[in-house]
Amino acid sequence: MPVPSRRPLETERLLLRPTTAEDAGRALEIQSDWQVTRMLRMAAFPPDRAATETWFSDHEREWRAGEACRFAVEIEGRMVGLVDIDEIADGEGELGYWFERTAWGSGYASEAARETIRFAFEEVGLSALKSGHAEDNPASGRILVKLGFRHLDTVERFSRPRGENIRQRRYVLSATSG
Ligand SMILES: CC(C)(COP(=O)(O)OP(=O)(O)OC[C@H]1O[C@@H](n2cnc3c(N)ncnc32)[C@H](O)[C@@H]1OP(=O)(O)O)[C@@H](O)C(=O)NCCC(=O)NCCS
Repeated sequence: MPVPSRRPLETERLLLRPTTAEDAGRALEIQSDWQVTRMLRMAAFPPDRAATETWFSDHEREWRAGEACRFAVEIEGRMVGLVDIDEIADGEGELGYWFERTAWGSGYASEAARETIRFAFEEVGLSALKSGHAEDNPASGRILVKLGFRHLDTVERFSRPRGENIRQRRYVLSATSG
């Protein structure tokens, strides 16, 4: 599967641009908020500066290797969140997103996710996307259902930031279902 070029995407209100190593500082600020990071199953809390910098430094390689496409979401030049497709393999990928708290409640996550789904199906050529959210994160569930995802199952999984098991609702969206 050919890898799409690293170029920004635009929506009505947002710029989605491929992440770079320089985005680690803003990501650290955003993930220093427990209300954000408690919902991210694999994230450390408090966030670790060295690990975050190493992770962002690898994003360009991940993209070119066809493993993950990650976008910083910008409003008027400021990064307010991140949306990504990762774990790309066998024509499938996993959709994720997180935003700083001051940006919540304005439809930004839905807008960014909708464009990223279009990108995943039309430009990356994926045939299906998976996603999931903690059972106590109904806003994320609302976004997924609104964008056409179908609830698959609910499983018990370890949450790194919380240090305990959570119930995770898992979803799938097929490229042909829209
Ligand atoms: C979840 C998150 C991405 C939502 O971002 P957002 O920009 O506020 O989302 P949107 O405004 O696009 O959509 C949220 C939807 O959930 C709804 N919603 C919000 N709180 C809700 C609640 N407690 N119960 C049910 N629905 C809720 C909103 O009304 C909206 O639905 P609508 O468009 O039909 O009105 C944001 O809160 C966040 O970054 N949280 C921390 C990280 C995170 O949870 N990431 C996802 C991990 S699975």
